[in-house]
Amino acid sequence: RNILFCASEMTPFAKTGGLADVAAALPKHLKKLGHNVKVVLPRYYMINKNNLEFVIGNIGVDMGPLGTLWCSAYRTLYEGVEVYFIDYEIFFGRKNLYTDDNGYSYPDNDARFIFFSKAVLELARALDFKPDIVHANDWHTAAQPIFLNTVLRNDPFFQKTASVFTIHNLQHQGVFAKSAFEYLGIGWEHFNMYEMEALGALNLMKGAIYHADKITTVSPKYALEIQTPEFGFGLQEHIKAHAYKLFGILNGVDYDEWNPKMDPYIAKNYDIDDLSGKKVCKIDLQKSFNLAQKDDIPLIGFVGRFAQQKGIELIAAAMHELVHLPLQMVFLGSGEKWAEGFFQDIANKYENVGCFIGYSNEFAHKIEAGSDLFLMPSLFEPCGLNQIYSLRYGTLPIVRAVGGLDDTIQNYEPHTKTGDGFKFYDATKEALIGTVRWAVDTWMHDKEGVNTMIHTAMSKRFDWQRSAKEYERVYELALETKR
Ligand code: ADP
Ligand code: GLC
Repeated sequence: RNILFCASEMTPFAKTGGLADVAAALPKHLKKLGHNVKVVLPRYYMINKNNLEFVIGNIGVDMGPLGTLWCSAYRTLYEGVEVYFIDYEIFFGRKNLYTDDNGYSYPDNDARFIFFSKAVLELARALDFKPDIVHANDWHTAAQPIFLNTVLRNDPFFQKTASVFTIHNLQHQGVFAKSAFEYLGIGWEHFNMYEMEALGALNLMKGAIYHADKITTVSPKYALEIQTPEFGFGLQEHIKAHAYKLFGILNGVDYDEWNPKMDPYIAKNYDIDDLSGKKVCKIDLQKSFNLAQKDDIPLIGFVGRFAQQKGIELIAAAMHELVHLPLQMVFLGSGEKWAEGFFQDIANKYENVGCFIGYSNEFAHKIEAGSDLFLMPSLFEPCGLNQIYSLRYGTLPIVRAVGGLDDTIQNYEPHTKTGDGFKFYDATKEALIGTVRWAVDTWMHDKEGVNTMIHTAMSKRFDWQRSAKEYERVYELALETKR
């Protein structure tokens, strides 16, 4: 099949979160299954044009009130997959992907990403690459299923193209002023509460859910959760109405990148049959974060965006009690300014806490390897990758039982010594503290149980090949709607 895969980020070119990892891994594995895949990204400022091959210029994109904007396309091969870049300096020649340095969304994100979504389809036409499937991801490319099912519905080039839309995070829906609807260039009859209007505004995610031939989420549990008020961010009824075409497919992990056996960033490699290297990694991590080199208390790691989603308010509320338990903690993250200040202050104040504010792939790897426990108390989690990386590194996750966290982690059962992590259910500081206490206590006094858990965790695999096959099945179902 010809698959056009579009996303706003992809590892290693541009990344703010897990979407980038998925956009790198899934196309690679679809290719392995024999498909002809092209990935398309915006050519952001940090992606150097000199390393890319120029493909085509003068791609015209009609943006309604902005007139026709002309862009070009570049190309490279990454791990065997063709990756294209839409080059339009005015929209993408900026330092960050979505926000300014203070974390405020760029005011023209509507135009930027509607433009990108349209440009990708024009590029396909210019390359004479007739996609069987257009696979769009999150609100940034949500306009694609919308065009394909409206203006392009009877276009000879795209007539047989089916669309699949993946929701990685329902919190960000691409909600813009009504006037942004004109960039889409589709008839006003589509601006209604069943399609893409919500509270008078344009909601791109809502539109994609309506217009896509199939919708997926990145874990089975999240597919169910988003149909409820707690996780639906206002779209729960809309999603319920379209649940007949909704599938939950768990993300995989790229074990070429996340594998303690051959990880180049960690102090000593190790694997399930010999964990002595993990001890070396713990000491190295303690050194890097200025912590005492103790091996009789557990070290708990955290890696992630400092965003409400990740439960940082819960951690902050619990912190003044947690620091008095027999444990050490390290935090790696950036995002909300109050949280950056808060965790930095805590690390300055308590000698058993370390913190690095910023983005560091190397530290992310060192924390996965050197920690004993990994904290991920998310309020919601569409899939979550770090807890799965943790399993492979024998670092037992402490998680809230939501979305992908619940799908991937099995709670510890002391009587049978089964499970590979510690789960809690209520989004309260008491539940969080109680569970951290339980994990610390288990780590210190139930060595046999912990060793069994580490073994279970490290033996688990979440292979992309399996997920890619599930996407393949969804693609076929999407194509059936075109026959
Ligand atoms: P989300 O996409 O919601 O941020 P995921 O768990 O799916 O959450 O993916 C997060 C990805 O981003 C992981 O690969 C993680 O290692 C990485 N990451 C997040 N914050 C940082 C950071 N400060 N430094 C390095 N890597 C980070
Ligand atoms: C989103 C979600 C995260 C998921 C990632 C990749 O950013 O927040 O849970 O793992 O997308 O699908």
